[in-house]
Amino acid sequence: MKPLMVVKFGGSLTKNLPAQNKFLKELAKISRRQNIILVHGGSHEINTLLEKFAITSKFVNGLRFTDTDTLNVVEMGLSGKVNRSLTTGLIKNGANAVGISGKDGKSVVCKQIKQLGFVGDPVKVNKKLIDILIKSGFLPVIASIAADVKGNVMNVNADTFAASIAAAFRAQKLVFLTDVAGVLDKDKNTIKEVKTKEINTLIKNQTITGGMIPKIKSCTSAVKKGIKEVWIADGISGIQKIKGTAIKK
Ligand SMILES: Nc1ncnc2c1ncn2[C@@H]1O[C@H](COP(=O)(O)OP(=O)(O)O)[C@@H](O)[C@H]1O
Ligand SMILES: [Mg+2]
Repeated sequence: MKPLMVVKFGGSLTKNLPAQNKFLKELAKISRRQNIILVHGGSHEINTLLEKFAITSKFVNGLRFTDTDTLNVVEMGLSGKVNRSLTTGLIKNGANAVGISGKDGKSVVCKQIKQLGFVGDPVKVNKKLIDILIKSGFLPVIASIAADVKGNVMNVNADTFAASIAAAFRAQKLVFLTDVAGVLDKDKNTIKEVKTKEINTLIKNQTITGGMIPKIKSCTSAVKKGIKEVWIADGISGIQKIKGTAIKK
């Protein structure tokens, strides 16, 4: 078996099309010698669509409440736009990409976080469909949507989603590509290495805020589940020469 790398492409990066194209070209090349699972979010696309449909959201502790209308738009943005565009880009660059979401083949089963509406936390990964794809030479591109045990569709934070997939497949490497050069300190310099025991302090003293919180927590859980190499890095510089923060035990 070739080594497996799980790459999470941040929704924040989809607004930078040249960077996206450069990344897809690089990833298609790497996929010739390494198995890849690409997971993606879609925050930028979702926000644009919500605005277009004039859907105003309720927020709970700063987090968007996902009602039925919002969920429809989330799925449209993630599966209908971002997933299509990443899959197309990979195919154009020669990779045999297949776009799915976590609910396909019941690949990712989640549990609802009721106070947030149709939002779930992954509780189980069924490897069958993704395994079939990888073993048959396809490159799975997975939108961070899952269904609960009853088949109700939920939006899942793409970082948490990527970490659970990486753990289930015992990936050698997990890379979170985002719109900043890793975890930054208060002077905006990249912290080269963060140890899992340092993370709570970085959150408490507000060095790490917002979207970086679920990302760094997902790194911790991945490291604890035995993934050797975990990175948060700049999607603009790509994954060939990773520029970012390594998260270590
Ligand atoms: N210490 C930190 N270092 C880097 N980024 C941080 C930090 N704290 C908060 N952030 C924010 O986290 C953002 C990345 O998370 P997010 O917007 O969710 O991106 P993605 O779409 O990649 O998940 C950065 O753009 C930045 O605004
Ligand atoms: Mg995010």
